[in-house]
Amino acid sequence: IALGIDLGTSELKAVLLDQSGVVLAHAGVRLTISRPQPGWSEQDPEDWWQACAAGLQQLRAANPDAYARVRCIGLSGQMHGAVLLDEGDRVLRPAILWDDSRAMLEAEQLGRDHPDFAEVTGSLPMAGLTAPKLLWLQHHEPQTFSRIDCVLSPKDYLRLRLTGERITDVSDAAATLWLDVRRRVWFEPMVNATGLTLRQLPPLVEGSAASAGLAAAAATELGLSAGLVVAGGGGDNPVSAVGIGAIDAGQAFVTLGTSAALVAITDHAAGNPPSAVHTFCHALPQRWYTMGAMLSGASCLRWVTNLLGKPNEQALLQLVQETLPIAQVVPATTPLFLPYLAGERTPHNDPLVRGGFMQLGHDTVPAMLGYAVLEGVGFGLLDAMHAVQSAGAAVSSCALVGGGARSDYWAQLLANILDREIHTLSGSELSACIGAAKLGFLAIGGGQDLLAAGMPIKARFTPVAAQQPVLQARYRQFRGLFAAAQALHD
Ligand code: XUL
Repeated sequence: IALGIDLGTSELKAVLLDQSGVVLAHAGVRLTISRPQPGWSEQDPEDWWQACAAGLQQLRAANPDAYARVRCIGLSGQMHGAVLLDEGDRVLRPAILWDDSRAMLEAEQLGRDHPDFAEVTGSLPMAGLTAPKLLWLQHHEPQTFSRIDCVLSPKDYLRLRLTGERITDVSDAAATLWLDVRRRVWFEPMVNATGLTLRQLPPLVEGSAASAGLAAAAATELGLSAGLVVAGGGGDNPVSAVGIGAIDAGQAFVTLGTSAALVAITDHAAGNPPSAVHTFCHALPQRWYTMGAMLSGASCLRWVTNLLGKPNEQALLQLVQETLPIAQVVPATTPLFLPYLAGERTPHNDPLVRGGFMQLGHDTVPAMLGYAVLEGVGFGLLDAMHAVQSAGAAVSSCALVGGGARSDYWAQLLANILDREIHTLSGSELSACIGAAKLGFLAIGGGQDLLAAGMPIKARFTPVAAQQPVLQARYRQFRGLFAAAQALHD
């Protein structure tokens, strides 16, 4: 049995997975975000550890027999977060998360001062990535900055509590912007450019390799055996890829969670940083992926659901389906939506731009706004797909994972917008923690068959040709609106 833990932004999830890929128990513990200033997003690493302990408690209660047979552990987590430790492994301040935009000017500065680094690090500097955050701390919290002995990514803080060791894996390391993504080693010039030295970064392992063993104290606290192997693990997007079986070049998927992304697996580091796409290391050796990353995905649907006073997303989706059936072409007067509620990474790299509705009329009803939001996120994903393709990565059919995959309406709309077959998968809600558990098996020398098996297809959605002309025209209009949105903050 492998234990897989995924430290998300809104929830920590955990599973017990057997060697044939069956989930024997799963657990979830909600997490909250603190936003002390506009554009800031923080969590206390201690809360992550408490959530982890509570999640494991749930697993143990749900299936004590399986829990007692855990042989290995795998970790997945939200990417780009900065956990700052002093020399005694004490946390110096709340962790700064992936959707935090305070380091905007520092990201610009790094881009200006070191224009050649993006080719090595696989991405333009962006406010949400880890490296610019450290430069911000140097500028704004010099006291804290001077006490930093080590910077860890979020899931690596859980590893520290589990094993006592400071270690990261190459997929999370790539997401910091301090890694040479082709060579999969730290890139010292970028580390130095943010005022740090290599001594302040943890050693690197591959996601599927063993990192360290469970320490005796943690083993006692959690009711597990001391010495259990903890795999390197990885960032939530690459580990989800492992979970669904997206392990070889040419495989692609869309994830629609709080954020959204279009991810294409490659067998080399295929980059085009100017398109604001990310080329990062996969959680498996000799694999990379190219990702178009959106800051707001299914969170846009949650936002408009609350705005319209609907009880839940399901109720709004029902209304949308009744008013604008997916099989019909939408009327040209339907509003358009820009999904930039928290700024955008791919393709704009603009933390300040905000969203909007256009083309509202006296005839606009809530269902139309709901549709516009689903479509606007879809158009954002089409932008992301174009950026991924500009890097040379192939996108044929796409799996759809994350909370958004629960809606057949959205899946069909995405198939129409991306002009690609979209398929949903059975069990994909747990893709990141299942991927983490698979990495756990690999780290103890098993799991090869499981890795290749992936997840069974639940439903297929094929693009409808009759929808193309209208959606393409609406996408052109959507593209045209960005300049106006951007002008509002210039
Ligand atoms: C990916 C990203 C988000 C976080 C969310 O680049 O920023 O998907 O990993 O957990």
